[in-house]
Amino acid sequence: MHIQILGSAAGGGFPQWNCNCNNCRGLREGTIKAQARTQSSIAVSPDGVRWILINTSPDIRQQILDFPPLQPGRAVRDTAINGIVLVDSQIDHATGLLMLREGCPHTIYCTDQVYEDLSTGFPIFKMLEHWNGGLKRQRIGIDEQDRVFVVENVPELEFTAIPILSNAPPYSPRRDNTHPGDNIALRIRDSRTGGVLLYAPGLGKIEDSTRNLMAEADCLLVDGTVWNDDEMLRARAGTRRGQDMGHLAQGGEGGMVTFLDGLTGPRKILIHINNTNPILNEESPERALLDEHGIEVAFDGMSISL
Ligand code: MLT
Ligand code: MN
Ligand code: ZN
Repeated sequence: MHIQILGSAAGGGFPQWNCNCNNCRGLREGTIKAQARTQSSIAVSPDGVRWILINTSPDIRQQILDFPPLQPGRAVRDTAINGIVLVDSQIDHATGLLMLREGCPHTIYCTDQVYEDLSTGFPIFKMLEHWNGGLKRQRIGIDEQDRVFVVENVPELEFTAIPILSNAPPYSPRRDNTHPGDNIALRIRDSRTGGVLLYAPGLGKIEDSTRNLMAEADCLLVDGTVWNDDEMLRARAGTRRGQDMGHLAQGGEGGMVTFLDGLTGPRKILIHINNTNPILNEESPERALLDEHGIEVAFDGMSISL
């Protein structure tokens, strides 16, 4: 399985357009060693030809330009995107559907809650009905018996939806009152190579069942949003804590780094990194600590093969 990191930043990207935190200013002024990043999305493929997009960020247009396999020139209008899977209905994960309207119809795989949010509070499904067949929805179940699925035309990659604890988007009626299905992690297994990826860009609390699936994966792409739960407040760059948004901080007691230390098998990579996170500075002590623990930081253009 080919895995392409299209966008490794959290909502807002890095640098964020209106942000002057140490990282965003430092990157703009060239005073820190860091790399710009677009917003959260990956693509997976069994053969490098048929791709599945996972989340569609507002930066999808640039991401396609930067990764030519998604735009093969086989016909006047063409795409290598065979299907789109959403892990939640957050703005940074769903807005890119509007940018892809010229290619409708698209098939969207999502849970009932995500479908509801994207039909009401952020009614992309309804809006895009006016573009050549719009979005065709395929249901992702979250119960043991119906949570395994494949994307049409790409049967080699077997997906399992794992309901996880994070948070619904700020515009959702279920914000701060989340229900299973608001957020899922994805386990993706290549039936030919046996390689297993576990992708969870939003992970607020890790339950035992999720931990067990993570332990068995070959590679983890997991929540790297914030280092300190209160880092956005400290940087005066926001009013929300990591936990308010459904993201487990990396540092400190009970943080993601300690949790990942307990897993010996998988390759460990942080993704969905907020622009305030000190790990974006490649010369920061936090980044050095990740190196010591064998934890990588995803970057745009990173390719993984499993
Ligand atoms: C999140 O990951 O918590 C959201 O994408 C934040 C946002 O709305 O930008
Ligand atoms: Mn996000
Ligand atoms: Zn910033």
